[in-house]
Amino acid sequence: MSIIKACIFDLDGVIVDTAVYHYKAWKRLANELGFDFTEDDNEKLKGVSRTHSLELILQWGGITKTEAEKEELATRKNDWYVEMISHMTPAEILPGAKEFLITCRNAGLKTALGSASKNSITILNKIDIAHLFDAVIDGNKVSKPKPDPEVFLKGAEALNVAPVNCVVFEDAIAGVEAAINGGMKAVGIGSPDVLSEANLVVSGLNEMSLEKLSLL
Ligand code: G6P
Ligand code: MG
Repeated sequence: MSIIKACIFDLDGVIVDTAVYHYKAWKRLANELGFDFTEDDNEKLKGVSRTHSLELILQWGGITKTEAEKEELATRKNDWYVEMISHMTPAEILPGAKEFLITCRNAGLKTALGSASKNSITILNKIDIAHLFDAVIDGNKVSKPKPDPEVFLKGAEALNVAPVNCVVFEDAIAGVEAAINGGMKAVGIGSPDVLSEANLVVSGLNEMSLEKLSLL
């Protein structure tokens, strides 16, 4: 049993489900390039940075591009994505996420966001929960992708809490691994079969409680 003093949350798939917007934007790009992009392909991109996602998609399509072309393609995809998320509302917060953040804060726990997305701040503002985080570490502040623990270690540092006293909430395998690699506890959001390395797996933050935290 450990003493949890801080909770670090991934964004996509934990607090909001933006995967559908990423899917639509990547699919549009792939189709313009002349190949298809399926929901299964999209699954493989969860928690993967924009640049690396594009590398994978081009590889799947069997296409080679120069660095300058790749930059243009990533920007094109992001412009479509940003247009879609600009319509997001607080109604899109996943069940129990806001309530659990408030429960944690009322119990004196620190809260941080730890996401690979460079659009994190925009999304937090659209869904009106930015004020519920003591620190936000996003894709603009990290250089090493999950499963490297950088994003979560920076979160712990910003909160001034030792990694051993932090718990990370993650829906991606690489994210769970990043938490463990950083010496933190990991709560998986999703299926226990997929997130088998996590200390606990729940289907959503609506299943979380302070009691469950205390048992980690
Ligand atoms: C999250 C999502 C990924 C996405 C990445 C970068 O980790 O799960 O699907 O590619 O963020 O997002 P961005 O908003 O910076 O393109
Ligand atoms: Mg995620």
